[in-house]
Amino acid sequence: MTKPNLYSIDHARNLAKSYLPKVVFDYIDGAADDEITMRLNRSAFDEVYFNPKMAQGKFVPNLKVKILGYELDLPVLLAPCGLVRVMHPDGALGVAKAAVNKNTVSVLSTVAGSSIAEVATVDSNLLWYQLYSSNGRAEIESVIDELNSHKIEVLVVTVDTPALGNRLRDIENGVSTPLRINSSNAIQLGYQVLSKPRWTYNMLKDGIKLFEKSKDLREDNRGNSGKDMLQMAASPFSWDDIKWIKQIWNKKLVVKGILSGSDAKKAVDSGADAVVISNHGGRQLEGVSPTFMMLPEIVSSVNKNAEVILDSGIRRGSHVLKALALGANAVMIGRPYLYGLAVNGQKGVENILEIFKTELIRDMNLLGCKNLEALDETFLIKKSQFQF
Ligand SMILES: Cc1cc2nc3c(=O)[nH]c(=O)nc-3n(C[C@H](O)[C@H](O)[C@H](O)COP(=O)(O)O)c2cc1C
Repeated sequence: MTKPNLYSIDHARNLAKSYLPKVVFDYIDGAADDEITMRLNRSAFDEVYFNPKMAQGKFVPNLKVKILGYELDLPVLLAPCGLVRVMHPDGALGVAKAAVNKNTVSVLSTVAGSSIAEVATVDSNLLWYQLYSSNGRAEIESVIDELNSHKIEVLVVTVDTPALGNRLRDIENGVSTPLRINSSNAIQLGYQVLSKPRWTYNMLKDGIKLFEKSKDLREDNRGNSGKDMLQMAASPFSWDDIKWIKQIWNKKLVVKGILSGSDAKKAVDSGADAVVISNHGGRQLEGVSPTFMMLPEIVSSVNKNAEVILDSGIRRGSHVLKALALGANAVMIGRPYLYGLAVNGQKGVENILEIFKTELIRDMNLLGCKNLEALDETFLIKKSQFQF
């Protein structure tokens, strides 16, 4: 089967929609309640315009950034995502390899569907681990031991899932959140699967490891049921937990799911080296602000005591540039690379990173900005600045 060359995130999304059973596509593409926050995440970038500097001569823009001490070729990191093996058998290992090939970071989710040992076979400096845990501190200690034994250097703790968001597409598709098959939805799902032969063929080749998760594959082999997974993703951390994690982890710590200046400060006070401004791509609390809107407040509150990464709604190179101009050190993408993975596995993820790279290079030329460090608010105009 020929593999298409993806030319935009929307192109990848359309192809992913045609390749995947509806239930899987909706799991990726859907969000909470009316999905308003998800849509606003993207459209928020339209609230700010570029203010280009002309006649800067001919140059090749420099896209390198330093994040937590690592020099990356691109300010675009791959966010932690659950159940990636459902999208393509390349799964989390394919995602991690794609990131390494493009010299950027990928973050392995606790519920990605692959073991830490399997994915840590890639260059571990570019592999971070995202923690969910609902079974107390002993479990966290054992995960940390495992991360240390695989020389993982950066731990990301997600704090925006004390409960799971109300993802109606999953419910409408007859599965609970995240995916679980039972006798009442098996026929509907069976039809969806059979109508997507490319996906079915790939999955059969993979031995249908759909519902494995990283914890299943850990050495202690605990947590084998879908129920365990559900519980794990609903991860009610407290700030005391974060402080305790920083103490026993004693390496780089990132807190993901920050949406206000005051929480960003608490994260930094609890030991975070970086915060991820995120509303989980609109999958958690419907009605929160789009992340881009919270960026100035959070950058000012963090006051350079930690690095700031932004995710949710990034679909274009221009979105990345606007985020960096307002003070983000880098961004993360979730769905964009999942669409690429669904279409063409690891190569599809690389294709998505290439799209961002190409768009960044073009837009930086048009903007008259030679390197990312030079980006600041002078490259932007806010709507409120117009005088009519
Ligand atoms: C299918 C899917 C699964 C996700 N699973 C996780 C997860 O396991 N852990 C986590 O911290 N965030 C998870 N997220 C949220 C992403 O890390 C990221 O915050 C979000 O996708 C960013 O928004 P975007 O998809 O608009 O780029 C998931 C997102 C999606 C789309």
